[in-house]
Amino acid sequence: MIRVDELTKTFGSKTAVDKVSFTVKRGEVLGFLGPNGAGKSTTMRMITGFLRPTSGSISIDGLLLAEKPVEVRRRLGYLPENAPVYPDMTVEGFLAFCAEARGYRGKSKKLKIGAAIEQCFLAPVVHQRIGTLSKGYRQRVCFAQSILHDPPYLVMDEPTDGLDPNQKHEVREMIRRMSRDKAILLSTHILDEVDAVCQRALIIANGRLIADDTPEGLRRRSSSYGTITLVLGNAVTDRLKKRFEALEEVKEVQVVSQTEAEVILRLIPARREPASAARILSQLEAEQDLLSFAVDRGRLDEIFRSLTGGSNGTGRFTENDQPAGS
Ligand SMILES: Nc1ncnc2c1ncn2[C@@H]1O[C@H](COP(=O)(O)OP(=O)(O)OP(=O)(O)O)[C@@H](O)[C@H]1O
Ligand SMILES: [Mg+2]
Repeated sequence: MIRVDELTKTFGSKTAVDKVSFTVKRGEVLGFLGPNGAGKSTTMRMITGFLRPTSGSISIDGLLLAEKPVEVRRRLGYLPENAPVYPDMTVEGFLAFCAEARGYRGKSKKLKIGAAIEQCFLAPVVHQRIGTLSKGYRQRVCFAQSILHDPPYLVMDEPTDGLDPNQKHEVREMIRRMSRDKAILLSTHILDEVDAVCQRALIIANGRLIADDTPEGLRRRSSSYGTITLVLGNAVTDRLKKRFEALEEVKEVQVVSQTEAEVILRLIPARREPASAARILSQLEAEQDLLSFAVDRGRLDEIFRSLTGGSNGTGRFTENDQPAGS
């Protein structure tokens, strides 16, 4: 696994990364979230050996990067931010260059390049100059470069940035497929992506780790998590409100909206857990006016904003959101 311990980077008086610690295991995709300038790319550059930490340590499979840089980097693939690739090279030429830099020659070099081209769907553009490619294809070339040597560990800085929805989907599928036998750390600003591919997510703000949890665990902190929204037709609001307030495990009933045609109610369960919502819903079987219902799964964007100081403006931590290790 990748182990990061108390990693710190200062630029002059600015602390870009502040005592960050975490691990990523094989078979796991770890999402790295945080506002612009939070320290994601700086952390990734240190892990991949492109930037020397001010303090703290990084190890892979128990090997310290500071002691065994070559062995550690051999196990790593890195997709940097903004796909920096040589514009004058052809796709094939660039991948050949990367393969040689990784020490491949002859037949094994050809095989590695062929596999990367196939995996990243680059066949239609192999002979094209990189500078003339669309942004999405440039991103794929950079992706191909990062997986060329089939590394067990991948560090990807915004791998789906700038891709169209189809390509985003393709890249996520590729990440999911590869994650079976690799450990992947990926940064993103797309919160849906965290739900789609990550088993766990870190949130970093001002260089400090402020959450390390599963996407479900993060959504659980949302104020709406576990609430039930009911749409009812042809009904009298007061009667309904009373009836639902009398249900077991319902703490509160809020009227979201009412028109002549329908009433929308929100039930706040006494306990915010899926089983509780299921028990409440099972009591509604006989409710003839019920048109539809939904159980809120919580919102990552709400949690992201409240933890990183976006919407509530405080950026303060609650008791449950202390930085790791404090
Ligand atoms: N070489 C450098 N010299 C000085 N400051 C730097 C350097 N590299 C990064 N920083 C600063 O470190 C902080 C963290 O930057 P970083 O690029 O890691 O953020 P990020 O989380 O990747 O943001 P984004 O989401 O915008 O990509 C920023 O304040 C940035 O200006
Ligand atoms: Mg960045």
